[in-house]
Parts: sequence; structure tokens; C-alpha cells
Amino acid sequence: MFNLFKKKKEEVKVNPYLPLKVREVVRETEDTVTLYFEQPEPFLEYKPGQFLTLVMDFEGKEQRRSYSLCTSPFVDPFPGISVKRVTGGLFSNFLNEKIFPGKTINVLKPLGNFTTEFHSKNRRHFFLIAGGSGITPIMGILKSVLVNEPNSIITLIYSSRNEEQIIFRNQLELLEKANSDRLKVIHNLSQPSENWNGLKGRLSPSLLKELFAKAEYEERYEEVYFVCGPEGIMETTRTVLEELGVDKERIHHESFYSAAAHQAHEEALAGINKGILSRDVKIVLEGQEHLVTVSPEKTVLEAGLAAGLNMPYSCQSGLCTACRGKVLSGQVKMDEDAGLSEKELAAGYVLCCVSRPLTDDIKITIE
Ligand SMILES: Cc1cc2nc3c(=O)[nH]c(=O)nc-3n(C[C@H](O)[C@H](O)[C@H](O)COP(=O)(O)OP(=O)(O)OC[C@H]3O[C@@H](n4cnc5c(N)ncnc54)[C@H](O)[C@@H]3O)c2cc1C
Ligand code: FES
Repeated sequence: MFNLFKKKKEEVKVNPYLPLKVREVVRETEDTVTLYFEQPEPFLEYKPGQFLTLVMDFEGKEQRRSYSLCTSPFVDPFPGISVKRVTGGLFSNFLNEKIFPGKTINVLKPLGNFTTEFHSKNRRHFFLIAGGSGITPIMGILKSVLVNEPNSIITLIYSSRNEEQIIFRNQLELLEKANSDRLKVIHNLSQPSENWNGLKGRLSPSLLKELFAKAEYEERYEEVYFVCGPEGIMETTRTVLEELGVDKERIHHESFYSAAAHQAHEEALAGINKGILSRDVKIVLEGQEHLVTVSPEKTVLEAGLAAGLNMPYSCQSGLCTACRGKVLSGQVKMDEDAGLSEKELAAGYVLCCVSRPLTDDIKITIE
């Protein structure tokens, strides 16, 4: 009787993620789709070039992947991501086949440093170099420059396999027509049809140098470079810009895939440990210190997650920096460090998703 008026405590399950409702699905090419989301309440705050981390369950296991926003918060009413299929890929095929308007996808708030601050007085020459799906963050940056910096100009060099694989082809054509004095789009196709009159072949260092030389304008602009694409294009651009003596501060790059991180992961799982031993690592998370055993087949992040720590992460490939930590003592080996700048490396920052312990006295703080 005494329980009759007692309110039953209801267990309220709080969603730790931001649920975004798919508003529209646009097929860009045979293997790429753009998903536009309804604006959440409050509106999604992001910088052009940043990425969302999608969190989905596959066979009862939570998985995450990063996808760059292809939209501009200054131009587009709804945020969007474009996803290109990867052969055998879990998310990219699911998102290309199984997502329809009305579906809800959990995401983490936008992250990433592949962006810039805008000012109406800037006079910059943006060299945007993209390959394949690497056009996605570049598109958000390009649209933002056009509306925010009336005195800045853009040269986009965009490599695709063939005409059918050019993502945002029509959008780019319209933007170029509307801004013919400020935007130059150069397509380069590796396997074009016979009718193609534009550039063809691999984006070689000599071709890139030639394009840079042709893009020189009479007036002086501050040159900035944004590069996003497959490893070959990233490497070519890095080499050429280094040869040309371009200041590293002016070069921004974003990679979507790391063959080195993937290989290290496969080797570790196969028991090839390359001298890495099982070691205890101290992880400081939200001010609390935790002692975690990191076995040779695991990274610091994997061991931390397995121990129940709520460590931040997204790509798990050493590219996005979501899992960044600072080494307070000891030494780790990173399978990939492309996500970190030289300054960050020198200051002792590491990416926990690709870090393996080398000494017994490691203490890492997650900031
Ligand atoms: C910061 C960031 C932003 C990104 N933005 C985008 C974006 O805007 N659009 C987009 O389409 N993708 C983007 N990606 C890549 C994306 O996160 C996934 O890695 C990609 O969609 C593959 O995931 P999957 O689950 O389909 O494949 P998985 O199931 O993870 O992989 C399947 C197989 O394919 C290999 N593989 C995975 N990716 C590649 C690749 N790129 N090249 C070659 N082999 C690969 C894997 O090693 C594995 O063997 C981004 C990645 C990062 C780190
Ligand atoms: S989770 Fe992306 S760098 Fe570690």
C-alpha cells in the first residue's frame, strides 16, 4: 500500500550524440551521394572545411567515421556531407544505398583544423587542390571565400578519374560563370573519354608547377594552399610546394585515408609487434588518472576504450586529431602523424588512436 503513490522512477536514456535528420539525398555521381541534414535546434555551428563524425551500430558494435561538410555555413541553409563509395567499405556503401530522407544519424559536433578565418579586407589567392572525394571540404571553403572575401581569388585544381566521376561538376560550372573574374576551375582527368578537351593524365609535379606558374596574377595576393585528396596527390603537392619554398604556415592539408595506419593495424592484429611490448600507460582524462594496460595488438585509444574510458575519437587513422593527447612522460611510437603540425609534434602532442607504448613511464593527458 505504501508504494501506491510512490512515483516509479523512469530510466531516461540520454543520447550522448547529436541526432541529425536527413532532409535530402542527392546522387552526385554513380558512387557518390550527398546527404543534407535538417538544421538541429540550435543550428549546427561549424567552420567551412570541418568534418562530422558519424556514429552508427553495425552488428551491435558502435562504429565511427569522419565525413567533411561540403557545405558553407555562410551560404547553405542546410549542412551536408558527400560520401564516395570505397570498395568493401562499411559506412560508405551503407550511406550510398540505405539512407533516405527522414532517417536520423547520430553525429559528434563538427571538428577539424582544415579551415581558415575570413575577413572582408583580405586579398588572398586560394590554391585549392582536390582529388576525388577530397573536393568535399574544399567546396565548403570555396563557397565561403566567394561570399566573405570579395578581394580574394581562387584557383581550383580538381583531379577525377573521368567526366562521370566529377563531383559537383554543375555546381562548380555555375559558380565559375557567376564569379568568372575570381574563380578559375581546372579539371584534370586520369582516364577521360575521347571527347575530353581538358587536362589529362596523373597530376604530376611538372604539371602542377606549370599550373601554379600560369595562375600568377599581376596584383599581389597572399597565397594560401588547401590540399585534400588521395595520398598520391597529397605527396605531389607537398613535394612541389617544398621545392617552391612555400612557407608551411600557408599550406593546409586534410587526408581521408592512411595506408601506413591501416597496415600497422593489420600487422598488430596478426601478432607482428615490431618490438612493441605490453606496457602500463597512465591516461589522464577529465582530471582523473587511469592506469591502462596496452597490449601489442592495441593502440592507446583501443586499450583505453576497452577499459571503459570515454576517450574522444573519430577517424582512428591518425588523421583527424580528435584523439589528441599530450605526452607528459615516456615515449610512444605513432603509426601515422599526418594530422599533427610540426609545432604540435615538438610540443609533445600525440594521436592516441595510432600510438603504441615504447617505455614504461608513459603518462598522457587528454586535453
Ligand atoms: C577527416 C576526414 C574526413 C573525411 N571526409 C570524407 C568525405 O567527405 N567523403 C568521403 O567519402 N570520405 C571521407 N573520409 C573517409 C571516411 O571517413 C571513411 O574512411 C571512408 O568512407 C571509408 O569508410 P568505410 O566504412 O566505407 O570503409 P572501411 O570499412 O573503413 O574500409 C574498407 C576497406 O577499404 C580501405 N579503405 C578505406 N578508406 C579508403 C580510402 N579512402 N582509400 C583506399 N582504401 C580505403 C580500408 O583500409 C579497408 O580495407 C574522411 C576521412 C577523414 C579522416
Ligand atoms: S581519432 Fe582521428 S586522429 Fe585519432
